[in-house]
Amino acid sequence: MANKALTKAKNAKKDEFYTQLPEIQAEVNAYLDYDPDVFRGKTVLLPCDDPEWSNFTRFFAQNFERFGLKKLISTSYAPESKSRKYGALFTYAAERSEVTPQNERGKIFVLDHDTNANGRIDFDDLEWKYLRGDGDFRSDEVRKLRDESDIIVTNPPFSLFREFVSWIVESEKKFLIIGNINCVSYKEVFPLIKANRVWLGESIHSGDREFGVPEDYPLEATGWRIDENGKHFIRVKGVRWFTNLEHGRRHKPLELMTMERNLKFLSHKDFHAKLGYRQYDNYDAIEIPYTDTIPSDYSGVMGVPISFLDKYCPAQFEILGITKTWFGGARKIYPEQIEVDKKGRRKRVKKLNDGAALQIEKPPVGETYYLVDDRLYQQAYARILIRKREETKK
Ligand SMILES: C[S@@+](CC[C@H](N)C(=O)[O-])C[C@H]1O[C@@H](n2cnc3c(N)ncnc32)[C@H](O)[C@@H]1O
Repeated sequence: MANKALTKAKNAKKDEFYTQLPEIQAEVNAYLDYDPDVFRGKTVLLPCDDPEWSNFTRFFAQNFERFGLKKLISTSYAPESKSRKYGALFTYAAERSEVTPQNERGKIFVLDHDTNANGRIDFDDLEWKYLRGDGDFRSDEVRKLRDESDIIVTNPPFSLFREFVSWIVESEKKFLIIGNINCVSYKEVFPLIKANRVWLGESIHSGDREFGVPEDYPLEATGWRIDENGKHFIRVKGVRWFTNLEHGRRHKPLELMTMERNLKFLSHKDFHAKLGYRQYDNYDAIEIPYTDTIPSDYSGVMGVPISFLDKYCPAQFEILGITKTWFGGARKIYPEQIEVDKKGRRKRVKKLNDGAALQIEKPPVGETYYLVDDRLYQQAYARILIRKREETKK
């Protein structure tokens, strides 16, 4: 029971994060910089939103005329469905709302004309009514709204991220959504990134970002604050925008130096002249531990950190795979290995096959390694496998 409650709490924590205005502004500006007409004449749908909190609804409504929007639709998920989904762990849903037919229904906000006749279309013209159902993005009702729209923008529930991506992609609409960098390796997401059908946004590359949370959200030791109005915020690591809208950064190639110059001038842990560029033992590629160590003079396959995607320019590189799941690409399968952990404890495992393996000469101090027969290996972090495109090879 306790475990079930914990899982529910974890899911609820991941789903109730409210995006702050500066994040939305910074990202949307990147698309406008690239194409000032990106939203002109378009219907924008904001699903999984929350009219009480949503900065997405506010931002697009306030900029309705400036962006030249045709229509703005925002839908919310019914409080009762939230409380059914998460149980009474979060009183924002369970206590504040009575069980009424209204609470079983999501809301829909639509903006397409000047309702209050003040001469402009903005936030004050938003009109809302109840949806027939609970506003679940998977319902026929919201699916119809998706099909009617041109661009879908939101921070979807994290626990349903895979489903949400599939829901958007099957619609072939343009989109801009928030997720975690780790989602890149999901089997529903990585093939889309590889095929250049989805890429990372422009404005968030590192660090953490602040999100609003319900008042009874359990505030943990690090990275939270309560503002002067009693609103609660937490900081979240690994946040990224995922999109299929064009922006300028993805057309800027990385500036690269030769292997020789990198080894001479860049100093990082795991990267120095003595080690050189190392070849994986179970895949025909070299290990690139940091994006800035990608060489200009190597035309083979390279295993780069996942964060390379923040700088990925598709005209410069081709994405071939990812080491975590390999997608069938590994050239060698190791028999059972002995893992020696940081403290020297040993156990039999099979996980060396899950990633790129680097053969080492002697046991590393304070680091995990693996023994296969009399050979020693370390496993690289999850890597994206890339190769320079012909036209950019030197
Ligand atoms: C991460 S929050 C983001 C809210 C808002 N879009 C924002 O960024 O401020 C995701 C929202 O989706 C709602 N949600 C959860 N499950 C849903 C579903 N199946 N369909 C639609 N919305 C859902 C959650 O209750 C939550 O309010």
